[in-house]
Amino acid sequence: MSIEDLINKVGIRALHCLDPETSHNATIKMLSTGLAPSFGQIEDKALEYKWGDLTFKNPVGMAAGFDKNAQAITPLMKLGFGHVEVGTVTPLPQEGNPKPRNFRLSADRAVINRYGFNNDGHDVVYERIRKVGRTPGVLGINIGANKLSEDRVADYVLGVNRFAELADYLTANISSPNTPGLRDLQEKDALAHLLAAIIEARNVQEDRLGRKVPVMLKIAPDVTEEAIKEIAEVVMTQEVDGMIVSNTTIARPSTLKDKAQAKEAGGLSGAPLFERSTIALAKTRRAVGPDLPLFGVGGVDTPEKAAAKIFAGANQIQLYSGMVYEGQGLVKKINHHLSRLVALRNVSNLQDLVGIDNDLWADKPLDL
Ligand code: FNR
Repeated sequence: MSIEDLINKVGIRALHCLDPETSHNATIKMLSTGLAPSFGQIEDKALEYKWGDLTFKNPVGMAAGFDKNAQAITPLMKLGFGHVEVGTVTPLPQEGNPKPRNFRLSADRAVINRYGFNNDGHDVVYERIRKVGRTPGVLGINIGANKLSEDRVADYVLGVNRFAELADYLTANISSPNTPGLRDLQEKDALAHLLAAIIEARNVQEDRLGRKVPVMLKIAPDVTEEAIKEIAEVVMTQEVDGMIVSNTTIARPSTLKDKAQAKEAGGLSGAPLFERSTIALAKTRRAVGPDLPLFGVGGVDTPEKAAAKIFAGANQIQLYSGMVYEGQGLVKKINHHLSRLVALRNVSNLQDLVGIDNDLWADKPLDL
């Protein structure tokens, strides 16, 4: 075992002695104060992804929800993430649901959370990001709606107006299971209305800033194939720039070993989400065609699973729960593996491998 692996393992064991929320807060604190060890990055041009004016140095991103309040952007990028998505941020600060609201299912390498968009709100997060200035990687800002908002569409528009100038890309998150009714925004007419408003606001910001901020839509994995097709159609019609597939699932696969924790309400992430989210990703790729940027998220906890997401149709991947069980060493391992794959498969860039196994995944049923 290398020294890096040892430090990684000891760190994870220590953090798992704490309850999940305390452990997470401690990790953010360590990162933001520069106390977390960093194992360096893999530099390889073949992993670069160009999207408009943006260059992603490598395909591994930190998924939303880890750095909800933008406290550790640069430290996370220094750990090797090519991009970091902060948020979800809502217009007003929010406490979220009562504690406990985050649970480890260690036997399943999974997490259940029902945080409910606890965050510092637009004003505080805006100031924090403004002070960070230029970042060494790509910065995504994930926006949402307040639980008690009377006009959720207006909340997303406020998010676009506030964060367009600071974000490399924006994500409209309509797929958290922990804000009652939020996922209803995925329904065709509601979605068309929401996305039209978001894109209009983005275009107004484009005139102001002289820069078009790409907008991603993040969806749930708890959708039928028909719904994926409908969502894809609306996304293409409204000229949304890309999609993130997927958020956590409300399903509880019968294979879960930690039966007691599995009864907790909330969104399930980690290893048991891999299959479902990858099928949803592949079906989305099939529906949108080869050109729309897609980020694949859900259950990536090994380099092989990262590669599988890319082969299923993802241009970029993101992870959260994998870090909980594997620590930060995972990012470097994935990039190292992907770098070797590019050489082995004799292609010039990882993007040449996007979707090569799409049929294999997209043909599988999405059991709901
Ligand atoms: C999340 N996720 C999430 N997503 C989002 O868009 N906004 C958010 O605020 C959060 N919050 C959040 C908290 C916790 C504790 C977890 C574990 C996850 C979802 C996350 O970004 C990702 O989509 C899923 O977790 C699936 O990826 P992993 O965790 O299986 O790699």
